[in-house]
Amino acid sequence: MNDWGKDFMAQDIAEVLLSEEVIRARVKELGEQLSRDYAGKEVVLVCILKGACVFFADLARQMTVHIKMDFMGISSYGDAMKTSGIVRITKDMDTSITDRHVIIAEDIMDSGLTLSHLTRLLSARNPASMRICCLLDKPERRECDITPDYCGFLIPNKFVVGYGLDYEGRYRNLPYVGVLKPEVYSDR
Ligand code: IMP
Ligand code: MG
Repeated sequence: MNDWGKDFMAQDIAEVLLSEEVIRARVKELGEQLSRDYAGKEVVLVCILKGACVFFADLARQMTVHIKMDFMGISSYGDAMKTSGIVRITKDMDTSITDRHVIIAEDIMDSGLTLSHLTRLLSARNPASMRICCLLDKPERRECDITPDYCGFLIPNKFVVGYGLDYEGRYRNLPYVGVLKPEVYSDR
């Protein structure tokens, strides 16, 4: 295997926060928990693009109930490090969620503004139920009253990349979650 690309990216990582093994084990647990909680039901598992794509693909394969996969593209105004919470749908789901059980798969909850805006928007479509499943949660940063129904890991207030999470579109393909060296973003 050619590891050049990963080593190159790894130079920008200060610390591995969650290894591949740790993530794999926790995603398996989440999948098992969701399968128990939704036993006998069909779920619409919604991937919030792009950050949740890796988590979504792994989580879906740990679920044993019937799911329909759907995808939503969201763009929030703000800079690369922080959202303004004003979200715009750049790609809507293909399926109707009315009277369906919806699970939103998201990469990280930070201020919470993105998900609070999104859930308000999706509630108007009258799903039978709607819950949030986040891989990561930075509760210290919360600016509104929202908590994920399912959460992979609580993490400290550090900017992380990998396993789908990006800085300026990069590092999503790192297989682990790492803390980005501050000089990588303060140099620009
Ligand atoms: P919120 O609206 O502040 O909760 O922000 C959610 C979005 O901000 C996430 O979907 C990410 O795209 C981005 N984000 C927040 N924290 C981080 C981080 O540490 N690394 C990468 N992206 C982040
Ligand atoms: Mg992002």
